[in-house]
Formats: sequence, structure tokens, C-alpha cells
Amino acid sequence: MTQQFTRRKFLQSACITISALTVSASGLDKALAAVTGVGPMATCDVLIIGSGGAGLRAAVAALKKNPKLNVVVVSKCMPSRNATCMAEGGINGVTDFSKGDSYELHCYDTVKGGDYLVDQDATLKFCEQAGPTILELDYLGMPFSRTEDGKVKARPFGGASKVRCNYSADKTGHIVAHVCLDEALTRGVKFLMDHELLDLGVDNGRCEGAVLRNIRTGEIAPVRAKAVVLATGGYTRIFWNRTSTPYIATGDGVAAALRAGVPFKDPEMIQFHPTGVVHGGVLITEAARGEGGYLLNNKGERFMKNYAAAKMELAPRDIVARAIETEIREGRGYGQGLESYVLLDLVHLGRNKIVNDLPQIRHVGKLFENIDLVDKPMIIRPTAHYSMGGIAVSKFDDMSTPMPGLFSAGEASCVSIHGANRLGGNSLADAVVTGKIAGDGAAAYASQADQSSGKRLADLSDQWQSRFKEVTSGGDAKQMYALREEMGAQLWDNMGIFRTQAKLATLNDTLAEMRSRYDALRVPNASPVYNTAFTEYVELGNMLQLAQAACLAATERKESRGAHTREDFPKRDDANFLKHSMVSMDEGGKLHMGWKDVEITKFKPEERKY
Ligand code: FUM
Repeated sequence: MTQQFTRRKFLQSACITISALTVSASGLDKALAAVTGVGPMATCDVLIIGSGGAGLRAAVAALKKNPKLNVVVVSKCMPSRNATCMAEGGINGVTDFSKGDSYELHCYDTVKGGDYLVDQDATLKFCEQAGPTILELDYLGMPFSRTEDGKVKARPFGGASKVRCNYSADKTGHIVAHVCLDEALTRGVKFLMDHELLDLGVDNGRCEGAVLRNIRTGEIAPVRAKAVVLATGGYTRIFWNRTSTPYIATGDGVAAALRAGVPFKDPEMIQFHPTGVVHGGVLITEAARGEGGYLLNNKGERFMKNYAAAKMELAPRDIVARAIETEIREGRGYGQGLESYVLLDLVHLGRNKIVNDLPQIRHVGKLFENIDLVDKPMIIRPTAHYSMGGIAVSKFDDMSTPMPGLFSAGEASCVSIHGANRLGGNSLADAVVTGKIAGDGAAAYASQADQSSGKRLADLSDQWQSRFKEVTSGGDAKQMYALREEMGAQLWDNMGIFRTQAKLATLNDTLAEMRSRYDALRVPNASPVYNTAFTEYVELGNMLQLAQAACLAATERKESRGAHTREDFPKRDDANFLKHSMVSMDEGGKLHMGWKDVEITKFKPEERKY
């Protein structure tokens, strides 16, 4: 029996169905049914949506906090196929204080890297927890790369003034995700696998659970919960095929929270990773540059000397991505149109280094471009990689949102650690740190809360069942796929690395027109079983909503800060825009713009120099 087979069986034994959560005979349900007319309903204490590092850590933390709670993780795909798995180069956290590093310095680098749109109180707490979390992962058995004396190995990473990016070759995220999954399975976490989130239920301003769809069977049902944690990841798939993130990164949780009345914070802050594979956008890790790789233009120059002379290739990602696009725009790249690129040269690192420390990107180079990095430079171009914006979280200490009963963690959330540009290596740290805090916070809340009646949730579920029938009443799926492609291209052209008022105005109109086309879309397959076209339909609706919100905030932020580059407002404008953008949606679906002050404690905004 292979290990893989054993593990899959283990995972399957942890999977449950929605009906297993239905407490039909309970006194609670009978009493509620008598008052509300709502029949038996699937019910749990803490419902965690998303099974990446953040969701899995939340589940374990919730069970540790209160082992009596019924904690369930909802996963759109197998819990080992998430965006956490796709982070390669490392996880930030200070574990070695001998060379002058400190939590405060990690915080400073993060604040400066985020172009000061970073809430500093939350960020210091985050940095204080990131270091110990590396050791916790080590104790859990994470196979980190090791120094000769057996310590966790760290490498230089972009925007960091000290070496604190801890790693497992260039498969760090994959390994973090599997360590978290193993822990969740060992602790008895239950999974609703292949289930998608359709909407959140809200009763009297409080989150009362979610409407889910079983992708395998097509069952649409409400699941009532005392607390919900949204750990559904980011929304960079709005750029469709121009992203390094997985197909599932469609921002379902962020969109559901927005529709439920929770603000979407800093939606325009989307990170473009400098080094994506030209054909497909897959990640070529920043570790390639951390280990000493060079970026070269068509003149053979290390052009970063013109953009960040001190840090060169290890400047923060916004600066490196802009530099690459500038080289291409000014004719110093290779190729044409979307297939333009510059070179990432690792040949001088030697075979041993590449084979031992960067095996995954060597594999990716061969697979996507037929290039062996040992012999030849890789061809690369920036790719949409990370959502700095997300569900507005009010308190770092429990990752609660403004809506009672609703918590969020990881890339889906925005507690403003990353500001306008995240440092490489801080995302895995964010997932494991905030996931644990959110699970703890949700369990504390659920331990003292009552279940709601579930009435509004039941109504919402009925509405989705009708919508399934209506949407699958016939049509042409090709139209949906064409619309999705068009959305990606429009976003890349008009809200990509360089933005202007005119481009954003065009995008705003185009997205409104696309929304009308979306509303008229129909999917030809009426079968409920494995109707993945319906899943894609739901995802596309979510992405269009999030793209519209991001476009609104990008239009209103008339300055350049971090990843948000306005060519018509090239300077950072602290007097007017040292503020978080807060987009909310009213009951009619209209988006509204608001602002919130940035929390500044120790580090006064200054010019970013690298
Ligand atoms: O480049 C990378 O390995 C990506 C890491 C990250 O986004 O943190």
C-alpha cells in the first residue's frame, strides 16, 4: 500500500455530508420549527469555509479552544489543492536574533514594503507571532531545509533588510499546506469536500451560517452555524489566465461577504509578482532572485540598477514588476504583445544549487517553456499573484469582521498587514498566523452564542435552488467562457500594472456591460450532478462583482502607492490618500466608496528608497 493511498483514505474518512449535520430529532430544532416554521436544518458550531493553510489552522485552533464544538471545514476542491500550495519561496518569521534582526525590524520592512498603507499595531503583533509559528511548524514535523547544525534554513527575500524567509527548497507552501492538513486530520477535523459557498445568511445583522452547494450531487442546502470563518483565499483569478494562482482563487468568500454587507477593504491593491511564466502566468519563485538570480533586458543589462540600485532584484515586488514592464514598454524586452518578456538568469548559480534549492521552478521551466534553468535563462513576465485587499477585519486579536459571528483569515481577509504591497514570504506567515487567531476567536464566540432560527438562511437556500433551475434552463456555455476570457483581458489592459483615469473609466463601463451580459447568461446543462459549469457561472458572477469594486476604488484613489500605479497621479499623496478604501454594497447591489484611516504607531511615512 503506498503512502499516498493511505493518506487519501484518511482524508476520505474525514469527509462528511450536509445531511450528517442535520439534527432532525433535536429539541432545539423542534422548538424553533414550532416558532418559525423552519424545518430541520444542517447545523454546526463553527463553519470554516476554505481549506488552505488559513482554514486548516482555524479548524485546529477552534477544536483546541473548545473540543466540544462541532467544527466543519468546507472545501471547494481537495484540501491539498489550494493557493497555499502554490507559494514557493518561503515563510517569513524571525527565529534568529543573532545578526540584529527583530520583530520590530520585520514590522518596519513590512510597513515600508506596503508603502505605509499598513496598520502598524496589527502588523507588529503579526510579526511577533510569525517567528514562533515557524518553530511551531518545525515541532509539527515540517521538513524545512536545514543548516548544517540542523536549524531551519532561511534565505534573502524581496524588501527584507535581514534574512528571515524560512523555506523548504522551493515548495514551502505545498509543504505548509500538507503539514496543516495532517494536523487537521489527526485532530479529527471534519470536511465537506467538493462543496462551494453560495451565500452567507444574515439574521438581525448577525451571520447565521451559509448556503452551500455539493458540487458532486448538486444538493443546495443551508448550513446554520454560530460562527463562520471565511478563509477562501484571494481574487486574482479576475485576471483569468494572467495569474499565478489556482482556478479556485475566484474570491467567493470576499464576494459573499460584500453581498452580506461587510466592506471590501483596499480592493484595488492587487499584487503583480515580477516573475511569472510567460505562457500561463505560473509562479517562478522570488527565491530564484533570493538565491542570486539576475534579471536581464535585451541588451544583456541587469536593469534593476536603474530602478533600485541598492536592493537590485530584491527590491519589493511592486518596484520590480514595474521595472520589468517599463523595460518591455520602452523596447528593451523580447517578444510581442502579451508574450513579451525579459530574462531571469540562474545559470551562474550552478546545477547543484538549482537542483537542491530550486527544483520546482526547474520543473516548471521545462514543463511550460521547455527551458532547463541549469542551461538557459528563463523567460518571465509579471503575473497577478496576490490580493492585498479583502474582507474588512476589525480586530487582529480575533480576526472578527464588523458582522457579529463572521470571522476571516488569510488572503481572503484584510487586517491591513500588507498595505499596498505585500512582501514575499509574508503570505504563508499570514495564513498560518491569522488562521489560528480566527479559529480561536470563532470558537470563543461560538462557545457563548446561540443558534439563529435559520429562517433567512432557509429562504436564501430556496432562492438559490430556483436560480439553479433558471440558469441551467438552456444556453451556450461558450458565451460564459468567452466572457471570462474577456474579463481577464480587459482587467489586464485597463487595471493592470499601469493605470489611468481613462483606462479605468473604460473598464468601469465595460464591466457594467459585462454584468448585463452575465445576468442574461444561461448554462446548457440542467443536471445537478457534477455541474461544474454552474460552479463556474457562480464564480464568474463573484469575480465580476469584485472586479467592479476594485475598479471603483482604483478610480477613486488618485495617487500611486505600492502596487497601485496611476500614471496620471505618479506620486504618493499622503495628505489625501493615507487611507484604506472601503467599498460596500447596498441591498440593490450598488457599490459605494468609503475611506478609513490607517493605524500609524511608530513608523512615520517616509519616501521609499531601496
Ligand atoms: O515568489 C514566491 O515564492 C512567492 C511567495 C509569496 O508570495 O510569498
